[in-house]
Parts: sequence; C-alpha cells; structure tokens
Amino acid sequence: MPLARSLSVTSLSGLEEWDEEFDREDAVLFEIAWEVANKVGGIYTVIQTKARLTCEEWGENYFLVGPYMESNVRTQVELIEPCNAALRRTIDKMNSSGCKVYFGRWLIEGSPYVILLDVGFTAWSLDRWKSELWENCSIGVPWFDREANDAILFGFLTAWLLGEFNVDKEAGDRQIYHRYCLERAAARCAHVFTTVSQITAIEAEHLLRRKPDIVTPNGLNVKKFSAMHEFQNLHAQSKARIQEFVRGHFYGHLDFNLDKTVFLFIAGRYEFSNKGADIFLEALARLNYLLRVNHSDVTVIAFFIMPARTNNFNVETLKGQAVRKQLWDTAQTVKERFGKKLYESLLVGQLPDVSKMLDKEDFTMMKRAIFATQRQCLPPVCTHNMLEDSSDPILNCIRRIGLFNSAQDRVKVIFHPEFLSSTSPLLPMDYEEFVRGCHLGVFPSYYEPWGYTPAECTVMGIPSVSTNLSGFGCFMEEHIADPSAYGIYILDRRYRGVDESCNQLTSFLFQFCQQSRRQRIIQRNRTERLSDLLDWRYLGRYYVSARHMALAKAFPDTYIYEPHEPTSATGFRYPRPASVPPSPAHSLHSSPHHSEAEDEEEPYDEDLEAEKDRVNIRQPVSIPNRNKNQTVGLPEK
Ligand code: UDP
Ligand code: G6P
Repeated sequence: MPLARSLSVTSLSGLEEWDEEFDREDAVLFEIAWEVANKVGGIYTVIQTKARLTCEEWGENYFLVGPYMESNVRTQVELIEPCNAALRRTIDKMNSSGCKVYFGRWLIEGSPYVILLDVGFTAWSLDRWKSELWENCSIGVPWFDREANDAILFGFLTAWLLGEFNVDKEAGDRQIYHRYCLERAAARCAHVFTTVSQITAIEAEHLLRRKPDIVTPNGLNVKKFSAMHEFQNLHAQSKARIQEFVRGHFYGHLDFNLDKTVFLFIAGRYEFSNKGADIFLEALARLNYLLRVNHSDVTVIAFFIMPARTNNFNVETLKGQAVRKQLWDTAQTVKERFGKKLYESLLVGQLPDVSKMLDKEDFTMMKRAIFATQRQCLPPVCTHNMLEDSSDPILNCIRRIGLFNSAQDRVKVIFHPEFLSSTSPLLPMDYEEFVRGCHLGVFPSYYEPWGYTPAECTVMGIPSVSTNLSGFGCFMEEHIADPSAYGIYILDRRYRGVDESCNQLTSFLFQFCQQSRRQRIIQRNRTERLSDLLDWRYLGRYYVSARHMALAKAFPDTYIYEPHEPTSATGFRYPRPASVPPSPAHSLHSSPHHSEAEDEEEPYDEDLEAEKDRVNIRQPVSIPNRNKNQTVGLPEK
C-alpha cells in the first residue's frame, strides 16, 4: 500500500475547542490529503463523496489541500485566482520563495476549493527537510523511497502553507498586517535577535520565523537595606495604611477582623483576559465559597488596580474616607478632653472617678459620629465613576459572580480603575508602598512576555502567583526547585483548561489563606531571598553577551564571539529550603502553636542559608573587550 495513502489530516484554524455554538464565519477548515484531486484508492472516495456535506457546513471557508498533478488538474480542477486576500498573500509569498502552489475549484459535487502543492518543484528542499525530520524525530528516510520522499515534501509544504496563512490571515483580520510586517522585518534584519523569555522565544520562532539568538530576561535594580528584615517592617507600615483605607471603605460594615484580613491584588494594563483578571475573579468566587463552608475567620480583600476610563472617584468612596476621618477626629477630641480631666485630677492628688471622665457632651459627639456611619448601601466594589460601566468586563464579571461586598462574603473586592499615586486623596500611596503592604500579588496571565509585576513583588519580599505562560513564571520555574516554598506560585495555564487552572488558582489562594502569620513571615523571607536572581547585577550578563554577539556579527574581522556557556538564562538553581517543609501548605498541620509575640520576633536559622545563596549568585559582570581580534563572550559566573 502506498505510504502516502494513509495521510489524511484535518486542521481547524482559529478554533481552540469544539463548540456547537461556534461561529464558523470566524474559522477556516483545511482538509489535507494526498488523494485530494488525485485518485490512488479509497481515501479519494472518502474525500470526494463527503465534500458536498462539508461544503454545506463550511461554505467558502473550506479548503482541501493536495498534491499538484498536472494530468489530474487538466481533467478535474478549474484553476482560479485565490478567493480571498489572505490566501492570495500566502500563495504569492510561497510562490515567490521557490514553490509552486495552485488554487482552484475541484469539479466534484459541492465544488470545494482546492490548494495544490507541486512537490516536484520543491524537491530542492528535500535534504534539508529530511535532516530536520531526523534531528527532531530521529526518523531517517532512505533516498530511494520515492513515495516517502513525496510525503515529506508534501508535509513540509503543507506546514509552510498553514504557518504562512495563520499568521498572515490573523494579522490581516486584526488590521495589524503592516505592524506584523515591520516586526518581522526588524527581527529578521537584526544582527542579534533577543527576546525577554523562553515563552516569547517560542512565539517569535513561530510568528516572526526567527529563533532568538539569546534570551535576555528582564531585571530590576534591587534595593539593599542595611537591616536584613527592613522589608518586613516596611510591609507592616504599608499594611497599616491599607488597613486605614479599608476602615473607611467598609464603614458601617466593618464586621470582620482586620488583623485576620489578607490583602490580595492584581495590577497592570487593563487587558481583562491576557492579564488573567477573568480567572482571578472566578477563583475569588470559588474561594469565597470555600472560606464560607469551612467557617474560616479569614477575610480576603482583593484589589484590582487596572486603569479604565473614569470620571473621577465616586461619592460613596470619598464619603467612606470622610466618615473614617470624622471618627478619628472625634476619637482624638474625646481623648484630649479625657486626658485633660485625667491630668487635672492627678494635679490635685486624686485618682480619677472613671465614671465621670466622659460627660454628656462627649457621648453626644460620639453618638453623632456613630450615626454618620449608618449606610443604606453595601461598600462599593468600584472606587470611581466608570465611563463604560455597563460594558466594563471586571464589573460585568462581578455582577455575574455576585461578589458585592456583602456581610456574608468572606471575599471582598475593590476595583481601583486608576494607577496608584501618593498624591491621591483616596489612597495616598505609590504603587511600591501599596505592593509592600499587601500579602499576595495575583497575576494569572494568559499572555505575558515577561511580567514585571510579580518580579517587583519578589524583590519586595511579597509572594505572588504567576503562570507558565509568562516569562517570569517560566524563568522562576527554571531556577527554583520548589517555587511555591519561596512564595512563587506558578499556575499552569499552558497544559490545563480554563476550569482546571481556575481550580488550581483557587487552591493556591485557599492554602495561602490558611497560613498563620508566622508562616507568612517565613515565606516572605524566602521570597525576598530570590531578589538577587532578578537583579540587573546578575541578569545584565545576558545583555553583555548579546552585545558581544552583535559586535562579532557586524565586525567579524575585529571580534570573535565565543560563548562560555549556553546562551540562555540557564545556570543557577535555588534548592529547596532546607530548614522547614518544602511548602508552607504542607507544613500547616505540623507548624507549632505560636503567640502574636512570637510573630514579632525576627528569628531565622534561614538567614545563614539565605546569605549562602546570595554569595553564589552575586558576581560582577565583565567589561566588554574592544581590542581587535579579541574574543568576547558570556561572562563566567
Ligand atoms: N504599575 C504602576 N502603577 C500601578 C500599577 C502598575 O506603575 O498602579 C507598573 C508596575 O510597577 C509594572 C508595570 O506597571 O512595572 C506593569 O508591567 P508588566 O510587565 O507587569 O506588564 P505590561 O504592562 O508590560 O503588560
Ligand atoms: C512583618 C513585621 C511584623 C508583623 C508582620 C505581619 O513581618 O515585621 O511585625 O507582625 O509583618 O505579617 P502579616 O503577614 O500578618 O501582614
């Protein structure tokens, strides 16, 4: 039986999961077979007889891909111009790159479109493609097997066609074809092409058709404090300021214990799905349920810091802070009056009569202040007046999942649709201060070339959730043996469906909420210990290497590039922390009972270990060598 007969593949472009409700207008169906318009045996009959049915379902979006056989085409195919711009571009592109691709209508019932690939015309590529097959799949095909050779040519040409069309059509549909061309040209023309992460490297290889020469991860300028635990103090200070804001925001509904309240946040550009705000909200709804059924005394406040179009703060939110201020002022006034009476009593040598320390006027003042805290509505979910309130994706999702900050909700939500600023009348904190005061950053991105937000959390000693679809997440996975023990929770969004990822996120959040204060402090120490890994002082070396590589390519007579090690961010790997169980989640039941006083201690047998890690990773980056005929390369660690 001819080998190629078994080759019948269906490929759906633009469709991730089958859905009966699916709008076929948006998708294209390619059916690929060696026997398209080329009768060898039964496969031909299958394809030819079911074409009418498939045409009825897919109409003009159905394309059969087969081999070009001149004699068949003469009798069975009407050659025409490609039926749409994207296909025309694709076919023109392939034809100008040394292929012969034809387009036509197969004259059978249904008259489906056919794309026919002339394998003989591209035989010059056979050796290269065979080597690729050998390198990637270890399949060797002998030179004399003509049918197998044809199948290889047909397969590679089909992959070329689909690759060219996906890319171009998608870019065309989104009206960014010109941008895509610019980006591809820039990537192709560069002496050295770099990307910030492995995940973007894969993307570039497929979309821009160039594999990066070197991955240059994004770094930060890590602030070093003279006192090792200074970042913990900063957390406590900033947290107190967030708590103050929360007191105002939830006035009249402060029926939860702020000391047992965990602050989560997501921040960045408002790209609802790319940034994973969708999955975060869904996970919060599930977390709310879990905390309620488990009668947890923990409250979660999730902040969404994502700029949208607004018309200033809303009245209810501003009022909250005004009421809080009024209560504070009242308490201060009463305290002063109380203090004065106490002082006067002591001056005359008497212990005060406590029952007379507060008079009627004090009570009236306090009652008036308490009356002002009465509220007819729930604490607002959003701090601003949104211009597109009814179509806003975060607000609509909150409406759907019903997280309205009611008393029963263990999870509360605050959407602040503006970047933070220390000059804000509402929450006067800059972003860094805010991050320091939170407990966990949640960045469950679906698309994230790097993702500075979780990296910034890390250097401030704040744990975070990222994903294996973000550059940061992949980088940390590569460099840390047990990331979650270090407060780096990496969500699997690559190999799991949305619902499963959402469950995983819910379980991360639930585990996090079950930690004691002591466990959070230990975890923050570990998180902060990773700072050196993200410091430009370490990561700068990859840029040094990229520049050396560029010099050697641009001036080969002057410079020679010799990498001392693989040109990717490989190398150092943080071991599992030795002193305590690998993940706080696993140590929950074994962790000793402790008092609040213990929490305030700054212990750590882990400190020595932390210092060891630091020493390993901190190395100077060498200065590029500019002398003629000198070797340049990646500095050794
Ligand atoms: N950011 C900020 N103020 C805020 C929230 C975020 O300055 O209130 C900054 C944050 O510090 C980070 C950047 O926005 O450096 C977001 O970068 P990231 O790489 O996470 O996402 P991108 O914008 O590149 O998609
Ligand atoms: C830091 C401070 C401690 C404080 C703790 C609160 O570690 O140094 O004094 O008790 O933060 O941690 P928490 O996770 O409860 O905000």
